[in-house]
Amino acid sequence: MVEVQHVTKRYGSFTAVDDLSFEVEPGEILGFLGPNGAGKTTTMRILTGYLPATEGRARVAGFDVFDEPIEAKRRTGYLPETPPLYPEMTVGEYLQFVARINGIAAGDRAARVGAAMERTSITDMAERFCGTLSKGYRQRVGLAQALLHEPDVLILDEPTAGLDPRQIIETRRLITELAGDHTVILSTHILPEVSQTCQRVVIINRGRVVAVDSPDNLTARLQGSQSLYLQVDSGGDDPVPALTDVPGVAGVSAADRRDGVAGFQIEIAPGRDVRRDVSRTVVTNGWGLLELRAQQMSLEDIFLQLTTEEAAGGPDGTDPGGPPEEAAGDGGPGSDAGAPDEGAEPIEAEERTNG
Ligand SMILES: Nc1ncnc2c1ncn2[C@@H]1O[C@H](COP(=O)(O)OP(=O)(O)OP(=O)(O)O)[C@@H](O)[C@H]1O
Ligand SMILES: [Mg+2]
Repeated sequence: MVEVQHVTKRYGSFTAVDDLSFEVEPGEILGFLGPNGAGKTTTMRILTGYLPATEGRARVAGFDVFDEPIEAKRRTGYLPETPPLYPEMTVGEYLQFVARINGIAAGDRAARVGAAMERTSITDMAERFCGTLSKGYRQRVGLAQALLHEPDVLILDEPTAGLDPRQIIETRRLITELAGDHTVILSTHILPEVSQTCQRVVIINRGRVVAVDSPDNLTARLQGSQSLYLQVDSGGDDPVPALTDVPGVAGVSAADRRDGVAGFQIEIAPGRDVRRDVSRTVVTNGWGLLELRAQQMSLEDIFLQLTTEEAAGGPDGTDPGGPPEEAAGDGGPGSDAGAPDEGAEPIEAEERTNG
């Protein structure tokens, strides 16, 4: 349903997206993960036709996003990082307007707008001016806008950013419901969100793919060495030497200290189960064994492992001779659709609704 083939995007001499390839199957929810500045938004803008790729091809529902932009856009709903709302329009007017420029027949518009508002729980905000909405409501209106024309593919750039906990749960549920009929690509920084909603994850770092797999497979694949968490009341003794001597223990390090009780991380040699020997060591020394459990590598650990080593060149955007800023305004096809008037102070003029 979505094919990205060797896509590269350069801003001047700076490469924001570097030879990126991945595919998304119909009905799948793909999580797009990466640290700030990794190239997620850039990739999503390319997929939605708002930004031309420097090299490579991208297709949505079989249509090339640049050779056949109108066909591709008709099948794509896009929630940009900053939803492009018009402050002087009410929510209802804005969605009607988007429905019109998306080519939804006049007779269907009211029903489509109503359904999209219901799905995103904004029905009671229909009369409010977009310019007075809170961040969470702007996000929901942006999501309603992306759903209006019932697209095959939804491209959601941090759909839960700025939402309250209840809305986060609602939005996740909505996304899960939409999958099946729709194909979804969502970017997020919330890692549990990925395990909960996505079948597959693409992790990118500095514009390159560092992993593509299901959250479970990633966890299993990267579980190189196992570890245990041990909490022990050693009454002032240092338990580290005794623990280090246990056969199969590869290393012991202090993990935390709560209420005067020390917690330790115990690294285990591959294939060994040291739990019995560790607990025996604690007990024979007369210490109190308060907690002993195997530690699972979380998606968070994996994300950090995959994206830390390479990021050593300095934080995003601060590299010497970093990316030259391009003028705002992606200027891709469709950017003619509904540009706000000068002086209308659009909240974000650089991204526009699906046209
Ligand atoms: N118009 C532009 N001109 C120059 N550089 C740009 C431009 N837009 C983005 N970049 C750079 O491209 C890189 C990727 O940016 P992008 O917005 O795609 O990251 P992201 O993964 O979406 O990050 P975040 O998690 O912060 O949203 C960054 O280093 C950014 O500074
Ligand atoms: Mg982004």
